[in-house]
Amino acid sequence: MLNRKLRTAMAAVTLGLLTAGGASAQDTVKVGLIVAMTGQQASTGKQIKAAVELFQKQNGTTVAGKKVEVILRDSASVPDNTKRLAQELIVNDKVNIIAGFEITPAALAIAPLATEAKIPAIVMAAGTSIITERSPYIARTSFTVAQSCVIIADWAGKNGIKKVVTIVSDYAPGADAEKSFSEPFKAAGGTVVEAIKVPLANPDFAPFLQRAADAKPDAIFIFVPSGQGGTFMKQYVERGLDKAGIKLIGPGDVTDDDLLPNMGDAAIGTVTAHFYSADHGSAKNKAYVEAFTKANNFRPNFMSVGGYDGMNLIYEALKKTGGKADGDSLIAAMKGMKWESPRGPITIDPDTRDIIQNIYIRKVEKKNGALYNVEFATFEAVKDPVKAAKK
Ligand code: PHB
Repeated sequence: MLNRKLRTAMAAVTLGLLTAGGASAQDTVKVGLIVAMTGQQASTGKQIKAAVELFQKQNGTTVAGKKVEVILRDSASVPDNTKRLAQELIVNDKVNIIAGFEITPAALAIAPLATEAKIPAIVMAAGTSIITERSPYIARTSFTVAQSCVIIADWAGKNGIKKVVTIVSDYAPGADAEKSFSEPFKAAGGTVVEAIKVPLANPDFAPFLQRAADAKPDAIFIFVPSGQGGTFMKQYVERGLDKAGIKLIGPGDVTDDDLLPNMGDAAIGTVTAHFYSADHGSAKNKAYVEAFTKANNFRPNFMSVGGYDGMNLIYEALKKTGGKADGDSLIAAMKGMKWESPRGPITIDPDTRDIIQNIYIRKVEKKNGALYNVEFATFEAVKDPVKAAKK
């Protein structure tokens, strides 16, 4: 009898020790951050990594009694790697959340894994509308390409642009860009004389630019993903299009703040619609740009704010759940969350888990000797138009 009591007591002590030992795992929330640090989308990984580090430097690594540990993995810009790394992080590292995803195919690749593991996947970079519909555990802090394209279509129609050639990267967000620009532009009386698709990998824009120039449009609408704007602009100048009186318009990916400082004066006058400019005038953004640039020696771009806000979403959700880190509690907490980002006010749509944000119209100008996307009009609280149209 005594023996049994003793054994029970000892078992209790052992259990206590185990719980205490296991508590370090319980007290840590692991975030598997999968982005491209090498390969074609390396600039996106570089920007997101820098933003995540800045966020943790400014906000600490403990929230709601939990230590937030970020485990960084390099996808090398290969979506199959993203999928394999997500699997490893979920199964071996037992992460509570996965995040990052520099490109649409990478985000689509992890969607079934998030559903199966019931853990939140925070899309910090990719922009095809459909992504958030692929798993109830996905929330997005980046953007949809369509959000910006419908706005620039409206601007073009109202600003004397009647004839356009569209050039888009030949993959999902390019298809979204073309459709979400062309449909409202044509409905407003505009004409798309040619719709050109350029391969995503190692694009050579020169022959397509020649074709575009031959059609003598009022403007070229361009969508390329972050990282390719520099090559595009170089070939645009080489073909003499900057002097041909053809305007350049599009979503703001082409005049990405990461590349804009080195694009040369040919970029001046490019009018784009987008959700973030390093030149955005709010106090919050000024502080962000200053801290980011000080820590990194380069300018933050729109991908960086996707990373910075993704971390804020994780921290705020943990505060709301009181540190509960299961996927269902976290994703429920994320729905409807609102805060002020360096880009302006944002909300996670409680119905779609997609981002609602301001879209600004901007023009590339030189300010204090450097090129910036200078905002001159604001469209407030824009929802993803593709999902809105389905309702
Ligand atoms: C995407 O693949 O969804 C994507 C990537 C970079 C961009 C826009 C869209 O700038």
